[in-house]
Amino acid sequence: MKIYAINGSPRKNKNTATLLKKALEGVKYSIKDEEVQTDIINLYDYNFTGCKSCFACKKIDGKSYGKCALRDDISEIIENVSQADGIIFGSPIFFQNITGELKSFLERLLFPYLTYDDKHTSLAPKKMPTAIIYTMNVTEEQMKKSGYVNTFNQIESYIQAIFSKPESMYSNNTYQFDDYSKYKSDLFSEEDKAKQRDIQFPLDCEKAFNIGENMAKNKRNQN
Ligand SMILES: Cc1cc2nc3c(=O)[nH]c(=O)nc-3n(C[C@H](O)[C@H](O)[C@H](O)COP(=O)(O)O)c2cc1C
Repeated sequence: MKIYAINGSPRKNKNTATLLKKALEGVKYSIKDEEVQTDIINLYDYNFTGCKSCFACKKIDGKSYGKCALRDDISEIIENVSQADGIIFGSPIFFQNITGELKSFLERLLFPYLTYDDKHTSLAPKKMPTAIIYTMNVTEEQMKKSGYVNTFNQIESYIQAIFSKPESMYSNNTYQFDDYSKYKSDLFSEEDKAKQRDIQFPLDCEKAFNIGENMAKNKRNQN
């Protein structure tokens, strides 16, 4: 069994990456007696672009029908991820959306498999369980009030059309800097942030762990 985590954060050891690693720990814990491989892909390590609208993936009888014809650092990653047994996406929220890197990656991964028919038939080689983890500055209350959830639902609906409905989780009010006193950030209460980091973030880590554990368990039960 192979489960990938896709890190859409530029930081490899902060909130998003920590939660993704917890989810992969959950995967390993769940099926420790079996052969299971996990891998985290840090998107910011790669040179790649989003979809360039060449439409080779939609050309009838074309050699790239149903596949991304663009060749760059993530071409092979896209092929490997498409053959996996599960994918856990993760992204910090930048300007009320997932990061540009994750958005570009999703364009390349999902769009070639999305048929332009009224059912959005999937051309992906297989269906597989998916999950998505969002981390952000705003509190859960602000997130719900400010339309973030609509955006998340839209992203998730594309993932659902191709692979499966993702299990999703949010980590709110994240601790952004190592030392708040060194950065101009009057908007935030460091005390509140530290409380969140010490009390809520460990609970978020447990949630992420459970997402990984359930994904692997469900996948094993299907086999
Ligand atoms: C360019 C940029 C834009 C951001 N925009 C938002 C935003 O619109 N809403 C929000 O709640 N947090 C926003 N944030 C904060 C991050 O989403 C938050 O700190 C996140 O947990 C960072 O993830 P990381 O620790 O994995 O890097 C932004 C951060 C950056 C750097």
